[in-house]
Amino acid sequence: MSSQKAVDPSESSEEPVLRAEGVSKSFGTVQAVDDVSLELGENEVVALVGDNGAGKSTLLSSLVGLQGIDEGEISYRTGTTLTPGNNREVLGDEVGIVHQDMALVGLRPVFENVFIGRQVKKEYLGGLLKISDKKAMRQECERILDELGFDIPVNKKVQLLSGGERQILAFARAIYSDPPILVLDEPFTALSEDIMNQLIETINELRKDHSIMLVSHNLEMVRELADRILVMRRGNKVAELTGEEIERKDILKLMIG
Ligand SMILES: Nc1ncnc2c1ncn2[C@@H]1O[C@H](COP(=O)(O)OP(=O)(O)OP(=O)(O)O)[C@@H](O)[C@H]1O
Ligand SMILES: [Mg+2]
Repeated sequence: MSSQKAVDPSESSEEPVLRAEGVSKSFGTVQAVDDVSLELGENEVVALVGDNGAGKSTLLSSLVGLQGIDEGEISYRTGTTLTPGNNREVLGDEVGIVHQDMALVGLRPVFENVFIGRQVKKEYLGGLLKISDKKAMRQECERILDELGFDIPVNKKVQLLSGGERQILAFARAIYSDPPILVLDEPFTALSEDIMNQLIETINELRKDHSIMLVSHNLEMVRELADRILVMRRGNKVAELTGEEIERKDILKLMIG
């Protein structure tokens, strides 16, 4: 037997898919995120909880590069690194996001909303002209909604959808390109219990081969889904709960202080 240390084949997968170190972000005098470090492991569900204004959404949008950070470093296992002054959106193939406000375009139909920022194009004149391929987008949209088990008319304008239907559409858009990391900011608001359970089932399916960061005020749901819970208070990460602590600790107390 060789005297060299055996290489653990699982070692590479133990490296987090996403790591944030000392991340801070302020808006004027408001310190929205203050020196927060965190890791998201492979196939892990990490929940972020905290009172209104605790900095959860700001942290999430910083992690995916929608907002530049003031201090710290965000690094993805793929090699993408975000630092102050070096920011770019990490969305699409790498990360899918459900925004808290869903960020849908009301006047455009359902299927177009799934493809915002990454339209499927058809080539004309030997590639000289590229025109968005609406038929392909419609079909793809139907497929993804069908896969999720939801029946939403793909030609309907988003402003005519119910709140819950919009929430589902936002979710469909986040997972459409099957990114390995999903960032979900309040994905359960506006959902009926039935639909919420359906979405939880989908998340439980996705967690087998995706890493998920979830923000929710529904602590019951968070307890059920999370492998780890990070508690934020006024921009700071004040607690990190794992295993039995998730059930035992008074999360509300940690949130409010
Ligand atoms: N674009 C912005 N400009 C100015 N202030 C902002 C901006 N975005 C967030 N803030 C402020 O930063 C703080 C953190 O807000 P954030 O939206 O991250 O909180 P949150 O934890 O997501 O709250 P909620 O649970 O209500 O969604 C708040 O004080 C908020 O008013
Ligand atoms: Mg928020």
